[in-house]
Amino acid sequence: MLTKVMQSAIQHYRKNPSSQTIPIYSFDKDLPVRQIGWGGWTTAFEYDDGTGMPTVLLSVRKTGTNPDKTKDLLVKLNEQGYRPHIPIIEKLDQFTKKGSETRALYKMPLYDVYAYNDVTDLLVEAKEDVYLTSDEKIGGAVYAGKIYRKKYLEYLKTFIDPNNQGLEQLPSVIEDLQALSNLADKDEDTSYVWDFEYHNLAMDNENKVILLDVLING
Ligand SMILES: Nc1ncnc2c1ncn2[C@@H]1O[C@H](COP(=O)(O)OP(=O)(O)O)[C@@H](O)[C@H]1O
Ligand SMILES: [Mg+2]
Repeated sequence: MLTKVMQSAIQHYRKNPSSQTIPIYSFDKDLPVRQIGWGGWTTAFEYDDGTGMPTVLLSVRKTGTNPDKTKDLLVKLNEQGYRPHIPIIEKLDQFTKKGSETRALYKMPLYDVYAYNDVTDLLVEAKEDVYLTSDEKIGGAVYAGKIYRKKYLEYLKTFIDPNNQGLEQLPSVIEDLQALSNLADKDEDTSYVWDFEYHNLAMDNENKVILLDVLING
């Protein structure tokens, strides 16, 4: 069931699809909303629906140059079953006002985007070491994306070490990345590459690594 704050947000976005902020005062004063982040596609708002469990509402651009396709991959993975490192995400709505852009609204738990550990360090730092050869780039962007994702995962696997406590979560993180990559492979019209940056990685309240927004579509 949608909470009051989300119904209000959806109404707001239906009226103002290109709006980048939710007017806080249109909500019940007990349901504070504040913008906590943004990226090239998404504006993220945190709110507390009164349960004491902060939740995040994402407004995601679905039109214009290079509209987002990655959040729907995460939703699909959620529908297939629980994966420890895939963010819990639900799609609430998608709409276009005539002549305006299409936005979609998603709901997620609040994760800690400032937390990091040896696994997140590895994911981010591996960027320095994984490259495509000029031959691998010849087949076009979709193919190059596929190869890049595969090479990255193969490189990460070389760090799996049962004696390394700091990298304890690495095998299950790689499994979830592989599942995400497999879904991306099924979309043969779109190029997807890894986007491992600290602001796209997070942790949940059990210190599990969360792959918040690790794919970019081109
Ligand atoms: N569930 C969440 N918990 C905490 N912060 C979030 C959450 N979702 C998004 N954010 C913040 O919003 C930013 C933008 O979200 P993101 O999904 O990365 O957007 P984009 O697709 O535009 O890159 C993130 O970098 C993060 O700082
Ligand atoms: Mg991002």
